Amino acid sequence: MCASPDSLRVIPSNWLGPLSLESMFGCKPRALEVDLGCGKGRFLLAHAARHPEVSFLGIDCLLLRILAVEREARRRQLSNIRLVYVEACYAISYLLPARSVTTFYIFFPDPWPKRRHHRRRLFDEGFLNGLDRTLIPGGAIHIATDHEDYLEAIRKVFSSDGRFDPGPPLKLDARERTDFELQFLNKRLPIGRCSFRNV
Ligand SMILES: C[S@@+](CC[C@H](N)C(=O)[O-])C[C@H]1O[C@@H](n2cnc3c(N)ncnc32)[C@H](O)[C@@H]1O
Repeated sequence: MCASPDSLRVIPSNWLGPLSLESMFGCKPRALEVDLGCGKGRFLLAHAARHPEVSFLGIDCLLLRILAVEREARRRQLSNIRLVYVEACYAISYLLPARSVTTFYIFFPDPWPKRRHHRRRLFDEGFLNGLDRTLIPGGAIHIATDHEDYLEAIRKVFSSDGRFDPGPPLKLDARERTDFELQFLNKRLPIGRCSFRNV
């Protein structure tokens, strides 16, 4: 088991180079799973508790959310979680070491439904470059969204990219549902999911 440092929040000393996973986790992770846009961390906290042998990184661009997840991870004494307050595409383009991530979770990314805002969406060729750079061969990406149009757009980006194949679907315990997932389920709204594998 890796040692838990004073702060679970990692502030990179070099914003241009790859993070040292060994320094972050206190030892070389056997497997690294990353929750991009972890929000309030309901999934991340529950999943990390169920898999103490795996190292988890939660990334979000809202500092208050990162601080809330950190507080809760500490309260639950989860030593396998680290958090970074940073934009997701930047993190996978520059901060995460190449070929280091076994699994990405991207749950309920902001759908930006208006056409003029589509360019703000996370999934585009540049984002896939970052996923491809950081995933180990065979590494997985699991995505969930309540937005049908966005789900189709995401599938389209992946299907036109030879670096990824459709992957086996993710099976999660009900206790691992995300905060947004619970909101949509309460409103009886359908949830779309897709998974891909880096070939
Ligand atoms: C709709 S919420 C979903 C949160 C969580 N995944 C869930 O399912 O409950 C989207 C989250 O992604 C974060 N986010 C949005 N765009 C981001 C980006 N480009 N980089 C990092 N985080 C981002 C937001 O701050 C927010 O916490």
